[in-house]
Amino acid sequence: MDIVTARDLTKYYNSLCALDRVNFEIIRGECFGFLGPNGAGKTTAMGIIYCFMPPTSGEVKVFGMDVTENPGEIKARLGVMPQDNNLDPDLSVFENLIVYARYFDIRKKDASRLALELLDFVELKEKADVKITSLSGGMKRRLLLARALMNNPELLILDEATTGLDPHSRHSVWDQLNELKSKGITLVLTTHYMEEAEKLCDRVAIMDSGRILTIDAPSKLMSIHGGNLEEVYLKLTGKSLKI
Ligand SMILES: Nc1ncnc2c1ncn2[C@@H]1O[C@H](COP(=O)(O)OP(=O)(O)OP(=O)(O)O)[C@@H](O)[C@H]1O
Ligand SMILES: [Mg+2]
Repeated sequence: MDIVTARDLTKYYNSLCALDRVNFEIIRGECFGFLGPNGAGKTTAMGIIYCFMPPTSGEVKVFGMDVTENPGEIKARLGVMPQDNNLDPDLSVFENLIVYARYFDIRKKDASRLALELLDFVELKEKADVKITSLSGGMKRRLLLARALMNNPELLILDEATTGLDPHSRHSVWDQLNELKSKGITLVLTTHYMEEAEKLCDRVAIMDSGRILTIDAPSKLMSIHGGNLEEVYLKLTGKSLKI
């Protein structure tokens, strides 16, 4: 069953077309990746799925509900790890999770227990009482992952979850995401690391300039186009991932 369907999804920021009549569906239980160069429209597509902003035209349904008609109900059932850190710098690590729980009417006692469990899950338990400003960049990313899980989401949206993480932390996030997937949570992610997409994603959409160039399983794309996923990406977008 589809958990997200997008039909002719179009998004303009004033005169700039960020998404140009894109179509995709995300199947319950899969890990779906949006790949593409800077400005391709990945964050925009995700922002519309999690009801942060409405489409200009077209239709997007999440859990069978229209994003413009039922944003509250949709938001209650999903978790978001945004590309930019929006943690509250005046609060501690633990307090950030507790304050977030209030949006979802989670009881105080349950919120505290859950926050500690999730800090353990992302290996930040010993940082529970420190201010956000004392965390490293990678620790902030991990806290954002914990926060996204506070409402026990069915759908987890991860915008560059592992950007800025060291190789060890990146691998532990991969393990954590695989564990969440094995519990039946649907994952939607963006990444610039093709190894990550290959390891985690059941299907990927390769995008450029607001259009989806192809959607398929990484293994299928590699056998159709030849080479590894990075070579497929280069062939389709014309853009290299090498610095
Ligand atoms: N709030 C905004 N106002 C105006 N233009 C925007 C806004 N957000 C994004 N854009 C533009 O829309 C296009 C798509 O941006 P988007 O952030 O979706 O790309 P992306 O694929 O996520 O890129 P990146 O890999 O850099 O994160 C870009 O041309 C960008 O400049
Ligand atoms: Mg982005």
